[in-house]
Formats: sequence, C-alpha cells, structure tokens
Amino acid sequence: MSPNSAALRPIHLDDRRSGGGGILADVMEGLARCPKSISSKYFYDARGSDLFERICEQPEYYPTRVELEIMRGNIAAIAEALGPNVRLVEYGSGSGLKTRLLLRQLEMPVAYVPVEISRAALAESVAALGREFPDIEMLPVCADFTSPIMLPRAARAPRQTVVYFPGSTLGNFAPDDALRLLRQMRVEAGQGGGMLGGGVLIGTDLVKDRVPLEAAYNDSAGVTAEFTLNLLVRLNRELHADFDLAGFRHRARYNSLAGRIETQIISNREQDVHVDGHAFHFAAGEAMQVELSCKYTLDGFARLAARAGLQVAEVWTDPASQFSVQWLTCT
Ligand code: AVI
Repeated sequence: MSPNSAALRPIHLDDRRSGGGGILADVMEGLARCPKSISSKYFYDARGSDLFERICEQPEYYPTRVELEIMRGNIAAIAEALGPNVRLVEYGSGSGLKTRLLLRQLEMPVAYVPVEISRAALAESVAALGREFPDIEMLPVCADFTSPIMLPRAARAPRQTVVYFPGSTLGNFAPDDALRLLRQMRVEAGQGGGMLGGGVLIGTDLVKDRVPLEAAYNDSAGVTAEFTLNLLVRLNRELHADFDLAGFRHRARYNSLAGRIETQIISNREQDVHVDGHAFHFAAGEAMQVELSCKYTLDGFARLAARAGLQVAEVWTDPASQFSVQWLTCT
C-alpha cells in the first residue's frame, strides 16, 4: 500500500503551534520603539496571503516568475544534485508550482515534511500533494519554522535530508535572524538521518538596479500598497486598534548601502492611535518599519552561508541574473 492512500487514511497533521497572544505583545513593543516597527510576519492573515498571491502575478514583481523559470529550466540538474531518496523538508506550506516540480522530478523521495504556521494552508496543500504523490510519505507539521523544533523522521531511511526554502523569504529576515535561520536549517539537514550530510535548496533574490527593485515593491495596480496597509486592517480587527486607514500610506524604497528594500507605513498627519487601551502618537510623515526584503550578491550570500556551516555547491540563475536558486551542502 502507498504511504498515503489518502481516501482510506487521513494524513495526520502534527500541530506544534504555541498558544496565541504573541501578536499583541509584539505590536505593543514595536509601537513603543523609536523608530516604530512591526514584523512583516503579521502581514499574512487570510487577506494578506491572498494579496501576496496577487502581488506574485503583477508584471513588476519579477521574483516569483523568474524563480519559477529557473526551476523549470534546470529541474533535471537540480534533482540530480539532490540525488535519490531525499527526505524533503519545506519551510512554508508548499502549495506552489515549485514544490510540485521538485517532487515530480526527484528520484524516489522518501518523505515530504512541510512546516507551516497556518493550519488551513497546510491542510489544503498537503491534501492536494498527498493525492498527486501517493507514494511519498506526507509528514506535515503546523509550527512556526523560525523556532527550532524536532521534525518527524521518515518511515523509510533517506539518503539525505534537504531543506527547501524558496521565494527569497530569507530576505525578509534581518542579517542576524537570517544567519540564525540558516544555522537552524543546517542542523535540520544534518540531523535528518541518511548517509550524506544533507543540504539546503534556497531561492535568493539578487542585488540589481534601484528602478526594477522599487517598481517590484510599488506595483502600478497598487496591490503591494494594499498588502502593506492590510496590516493595519488586521490590527484593527484582532487587537481592537483604531488606525484610520486614510491616515497612513505605503512606502517602499531601496536602501542601496544595506542592499535591501525597506517598506514602511507613513503617517499622513499628526495623530494618536489606540491599541489595547494604550495611546501611541504618530508625527506627520513619521515612518513605521514593517518589512525588509534583503537582496544578495552571490559572494555576499556565499559568505553568509559559510558562517552557517553551509557551502555553495551549485547556483542556477536566469540570463539577466535577477534571481538565484542555490544548492548548499553542509560542511
Ligand atoms: C515573501 N517575500 C519574499 C516577499 C518579498 O519580496 O519580500 C514579500 C513581499 N512584500 C512585498 N512584496 C512582496
């Protein structure tokens, strides 16, 4: 019998989420800071996730399109680099085309372990993947992948564990946090069982001119602006805050010294906002930091990976070197 036989045996969803309550403490702390800041992880409620899907379809937002082109154009070489009998761990729900491409092309993968905080997104994607890949053991884990967790082992011994982290999501972490996350991936890859040391397959966006970068984060249809301001909609709904949406605007600019897009919510006027009974003052023009999207040079990323105990074994890019997919092995 195949590991899933989905119609007969529902796939168990391993729920490791810690209790709620984090958002209020985080937001109160972020609003008390100078400058104010709120983590971009709070963008992704149901509407935020839908808006992000729409961003990926905007003509100016090249990363999703180009990463998929790189994966499509090099999938045989990627599968060959990873080898047979892989236990594939993915940080994120794995609902996308890239995961399907990879699972289709890999030689006899032993298990797929998606780690995702949204239970609904995880359940939906794993049900679909379980139907499409009945011979691959599905081991979904509902958890925040930024915290270290013990992930399930596969029933069949893998040759190695590969952590897949597409989408340049690493770029949304400040350098210290990105390093911590890469180290965690290295531990996961190294301890996943198998005769090889394991590795990380990662999508990273590359440094380029300011114009295409700023266009990607300021699309002409205004979807990214809506995505950013949806954070305030979420805070109003979940924390009973009273942000006046007309009083704020989205701004995304490229900081070329730091090599990153910095997205901020700007206060259009002087105003007070209340969250959980506390008042927070905004000056006219005050910027609240809400997202970093770091861009890498190939050398800079190799140095970062080396500090995490990972060595760049292969790099695939598009002809214009806009984006890269990198195969990192444990040193
Ligand atoms: C998910 N992440 C890699 C996206 C990025 O490009 O930083 C999120 C995003 N924010 C605005 N547009 C897209």
